[in-house]
Amino acid sequence: MKKSVLFFVAAVGALSFALTACTSASADAGDVVITKDSMIRRGSYLVNAIGCDDCHSQKIFTEHGFEVDMEHRFSGYMGERTKLGKPNTSVMKDGYMLFAQDLTSAVGPWGQSFAANISSDATGIGNWTEEQFIRALREGKSKGLKEGRPLLPPMPWFVYRNLSDLDLKSIFAYLKTSKPVENRVPGPKSPMELK
Ligand code: HEC
Repeated sequence: MKKSVLFFVAAVGALSFALTACTSASADAGDVVITKDSMIRRGSYLVNAIGCDDCHSQKIFTEHGFEVDMEHRFSGYMGERTKLGKPNTSVMKDGYMLFAQDLTSAVGPWGQSFAANISSDATGIGNWTEEQFIRALREGKSKGLKEGRPLLPPMPWFVYRNLSDLDLKSIFAYLKTSKPVENRVPGPKSPMELK
């Protein structure tokens, strides 16, 4: 009898230990440690699935429509390639906004924004720390600096902020392996400057 009580106590103890271990494992799911290589692969998967190229890459027009220009991938807006004239802001009073044909610049009530260079070049995110990258995508701060200005539309950081730490770190690790594209993107223009 005594033996079976002891057994019962031990079994309950073991079960609760197992449960605690499970709970803490799932609570830390975002912090799972994985190798650099698998982080880069995950980053590549995420970037290719959640559309960073839409705004951040140059496009070429082919018989299949617009395709990413791999030579200038992640360069952001390139003035000499995108060649934009002065935006016709009169359509905005009818509720429209404007996009450059390659989607690397947009005009709306905030003024005009130019997609950033997020390639591994020093003019992109080459010299950024992981912390800066996470702050940019979580808090919408330019250059990921605490005192950075708020990032303008159409950068959907308020959607990407829902990615786990591991996902954001993986995206950063992948972008760091991208071909460096030297390109200084101009700062945004205020609505006044467009008048
Ligand atoms: C719908 C267009 C759009 C999409 C999609 C988009 N971005 Fe952006 N992103 C922008 C624009 C425009 C800016 C510049 C905003 C500004 O100057 O305030 C920007 C800025 C950034 C910045 C800040 C750069 C700096 O120098 O401060 C980072 C980092 C960034 N984007 C990363 C990403 C990543 C990673 C993805 C994909 C997961 C992504 N963006 C998807 C439009 C977009």
